[in-house]
Amino acid sequence: MSNGAYAAAYEQSISDPNAFWGKAAEAIEWATPPATILDESRPPFYRWFTGGRLNTCFNVLDRHVRDGRGEQAALIYDSPVTGSKKTYTYAALLDEVARFAGGLSDLGVEQGDRVLIYMPMVPEAVIAMLACARLGAIHSVVFGGFAPAELSARIEDAEPKVIVSASCGIEPTRTIAYKPFLDGAIERSSHKPERCVILQRPQLAAELGERDIEWQQVMAEAEPVGCVDVEATDPLYILYTSGTTGRPKGIVRDNGGHAVALAWSMANIYDIGPGDVWFTASDVGWVVGHSYIVYAPLLVGATTVVYEGKPVGTPDASAFWRILGDYGAKAMFTAPTAYRAIRKEDPSASLKEGHDLSGLQTLFLAGERLDPDTYEWASQTLGVPVVDNWWQTETGWPIAANLRGLEPMPIKPGSPSVRVPGYDVQVLDDTGQPVPAGQEGAIAIKLPLPPGTLPTLWQDDERYVSGYLSVYDGYYLTGDGGLIDEDGYVYVMGRTDDVLNVAGHRLSTGSIEAALAGHPDVAECAVIGVADDFKGQIPRGLVVLKAGVDADAEGARITRELVQRVRDEVGAVASLRQVDIVGGLPKTRSGKILRKTMREMADGKTPTIPGTIEDASVLDRLAGVLADTKH
Ligand code: COA
Ligand code: AMP
Repeated sequence: MSNGAYAAAYEQSISDPNAFWGKAAEAIEWATPPATILDESRPPFYRWFTGGRLNTCFNVLDRHVRDGRGEQAALIYDSPVTGSKKTYTYAALLDEVARFAGGLSDLGVEQGDRVLIYMPMVPEAVIAMLACARLGAIHSVVFGGFAPAELSARIEDAEPKVIVSASCGIEPTRTIAYKPFLDGAIERSSHKPERCVILQRPQLAAELGERDIEWQQVMAEAEPVGCVDVEATDPLYILYTSGTTGRPKGIVRDNGGHAVALAWSMANIYDIGPGDVWFTASDVGWVVGHSYIVYAPLLVGATTVVYEGKPVGTPDASAFWRILGDYGAKAMFTAPTAYRAIRKEDPSASLKEGHDLSGLQTLFLAGERLDPDTYEWASQTLGVPVVDNWWQTETGWPIAANLRGLEPMPIKPGSPSVRVPGYDVQVLDDTGQPVPAGQEGAIAIKLPLPPGTLPTLWQDDERYVSGYLSVYDGYYLTGDGGLIDEDGYVYVMGRTDDVLNVAGHRLSTGSIEAALAGHPDVAECAVIGVADDFKGQIPRGLVVLKAGVDADAEGARITRELVQRVRDEVGAVASLRQVDIVGGLPKTRSGKILRKTMREMADGKTPTIPGTIEDASVLDRLAGVLADTKH
C-alpha cells in the first residue's frame, strides 16, 4: 500500500521546487548557503543554488573526519586481477587526497583548470578526482578502454593542464600499456598538457618522457593542502559521452546541484546512509562510476567498494558473491550485462554457496534495458528486490526509479518504475504533444531539469540547445523512446537516435564509422547496433569499397584490418567483430544513411522505410547480409 510519501514528494518537487530542493540542500555543508534555489534568470540555462559556495571534497571527506567518522572505512579496493586488497579509512583517504591536491598544485593546477584522468580501476583514480575537487579544478575522466582517437578528442576539447594516468590497465587476458595510448593521443591533439603524472604499476612500468612525472614522486614531494571553496554553479567535472557523431559531448556537472542531488538520491532512491557498505561494479570512466562509486557513497558517509575485475573470469562467476559476502554490502549496483555474464557461466548460481549474502538488501541495475529474463534470474538468485533505474550521463542520477528509501513500490518487470521527484517526464508525439497513458513516443523532460543534471555542454551552449532543447520547445530530449502506463510506470524501449549501448557502454556510431572510413580501401560505411542476448547490443559495420578494389580477392584482409582499426582507434570496448562488404548503403535522397531501417531489418523487425529513400532496391540486396548477425 502506498504511504503517500512518493506522491507528496513528487508533487512538491514539481509545483514548488524551491521548497523541495531548498530542504534537500540542508544535507550539504555550505561555506555560504545559496541565496537562490532555482535560478531562472537565463532560461533555458537554469541554474541551481546560485550564490552558494562549497567544496565537494570537503563534503565527501573532511566533514566526515571532523564529525568522528575518520576511522571508518571509506574505500575498499579489491583487485582480483592484481591479487591485492586495501582499505582506506576516511582519515587515510583524506590524507592521500590532500597530499595529491598539493602535488597537483605544485604542478601549477589552479581553480578552473582542467585535469584529465585516464586510469584503470585503482584507488588513485578516485584520489585524483577528489584532489581536483579539493582545488576547484575540473576533472575529466576518460574510460581506460578508449584508445587514442577517443582520448585525443577529449584532450582537444577539455584542454587539460595536467593529465593523470597509469602505466597499465589489467584485463583478464592481457596487460594493457596505457602510456603508448596516451602519448599517441597527445601527439594527435593540437592541445598539449604541461605535465603527465604517471602511476607506475609493478605489472608493467612505463618509460617516462620529458613532460612525465611519476605519481610516487609527486606524492613524496607534496604537502597536503586544504579545500578551495567554489561557487555552487562552478563545474566539478566534465564527462564526455557519445553522441551520434564522432565528436563527443562534454557533459558539465556543477558542484552544488550535484552534491545535493546525489545525497538526496542515496537516502531516497538507494536507501544508503552513514556506515553502510555499497558495491558498485562499473568503472570510474562512466557516469555510474562518477556518481555511485565515488561521490554519492562518500557524500553520505558510506563505504564504497572499488573493484578492479570483471563479473566473470577474475577468476570465475563467484566474484560478486565473494565481494558482497566479504564486505557485508547492503546493496549492489551494476549493469544487467554483468548479471547476464554470470548467468551464462553459472546458470544455477552454484558458486554462491559458501558466501554470506545475508546483509544484501537490494540489487540496483542500470545503464541499459533490464530484460525480464535477467530480472527474474537475478531476483531468484539473490532473493532480494532487483531494482531497475533509468538515467544517462547527462542527468548524472536517476530519472526513473523505484525509490527504496522514500517509498518502496511494487516492481513491474520491464519498467524502471516511476518518475523521480524533480523530473517532469513526459512522453511526446511528433508534434510535441503529450500522448495518452500507454502510448509510445519520445521521452522528454519538461524544463527545468532538477539539480545535478547538465547545465550545458563544455564551452558549447549552442550545441546543448541544438542537441537537447530544440526539438520540443521547453523540453529536454532524452533520446530514448518509451511510454508511461496508467499507474505512472515508465517503460524505456531504447534510443531513438543512432547511439549504441554495448554491454552497458555508450558508444558513438560516428566514431566507429570514422575509424572504418579511414581505411584506404573504404568508400563509405555505416555502423548499426543490433540486438544481442548477452551485450544488449553489438555493433556491425557495413562498408562499400572504393571502385577498383577487388572484394573477392581482398575482402578478407580488408575486413580483418577494419576490425583491428576500430580496436586501435576507438578501443577494444567497441566490440566490433563483424564487418560486411556490401554493394551499396540505403540513403534518403538528401544522402542520409538509413541506419535505423537497417537496424530494424537486422533485428527481424518490420523496417520503417521513409518515402524519401533514394533507391529501395538497395534494401532488398542487403536483406540477406543484415539477417546474418554473428553473435
Ligand atoms: N581497459 C582496456 N580494455 C578494456 C577495458 C578497459 N577498462 N574494459 C573492457 N576492455 C576490453 C576487454 O578486454 C575486451 O577486449 P577483447 O575484445 O580483447 O576481449 C573488450 O574491451 C570488450 O570488453 P567488454 O565489453 O567489457 O566485454 P567482455 O566480454 O570483456 O566482458 C562483461 C563482458 C559483461 C563481463 C563486461 O562488459 C562487464 O563487466 N560489463 C558490466 C557493464 C558495466 O560495467 N557498464 C558500465 C556502466 S554501468
Ligand atoms: P549512459 O549515458 O552511458 O548512462 O547511457 C544512457 C542510455 O543508456 C540511456 O539513454 C538509455 O538508452 C540507456 N539506459 C540506461 N539505463 C537504462 C535503463 N534502466 N533502462 C533502459 N535503458 C537504459
